[in-house]
Amino acid sequence: MKILVTAGPTREIIDPVRFVSNKSSGKMGYAVAESAVEAGFEVILISGPVAITPPDGLAEFIRVETAAEMADAVKNVFPSCDAAIMCAAVADYRPCIKSHSKLKKTDGNIFIEFERTEDILASLGKMKTASQILIGFAAETDNLDDYAISKLERKNLDWICANIVGVEGRGFQADNNAVTLFSRDGRKVEFELDSKKNIAKRIIRTIFDT
Ligand code: CTP
Repeated sequence: MKILVTAGPTREIIDPVRFVSNKSSGKMGYAVAESAVEAGFEVILISGPVAITPPDGLAEFIRVETAAEMADAVKNVFPSCDAAIMCAAVADYRPCIKSHSKLKKTDGNIFIEFERTEDILASLGKMKTASQILIGFAAETDNLDDYAISKLERKNLDWICANIVGVEGRGFQADNNAVTLFSRDGRKVEFELDSKKNIAKRIIRTIFDT
């Protein structure tokens, strides 16, 4: 089985020295990729900029920077895969401007307009064939079940891994996480606070029945 995993943040460029990004460390996605390798799958990891080392044994490692680059790489690879697990924290917006020279400060405020990036997961939801399994992540501060299930339906996913963010010691940047899995056919599986590696192993075991 060939599995695509996305991980890390994206960087949306303002000028040659500035970008807008988010707090994603890539730890959850890298742990998922590592667990999938250990389960015997052929794994392609597509990653935004992170400070951690890719796991051994990947079939392919593709480094990207922006949401647009991630969209191109993912849509290129997905048709040959049996499943995709989309852990990346893709920026939802990018600056409308992209200056090739460094912006100079002025005395007043600065206003930068932002435009939507492509929702890569939603694009895969439209592309996927009946045999492909599509898994998304949802990071929520509240209403976890309702928001996650509506995301699963809206984006045509088979599973969604939902986690609470904004709480100390779990989620973004932390080494631990607690995750609730929801399936398209109505299953709900909860994993209590544990290391991201153990959570990743359980996600792979539950989804692929290994
Ligand atoms: N995702 C993506 N492309 C984007 C944004 C998100 O592929 N441009 C994927 C993420 O990898 C993750 C899931 O979509 O699997 C997260 O869903 P999303 O709707 O982006 O969640 P939020 O950003 O939290 O959205 P909302 O503001 O609606 O809560």
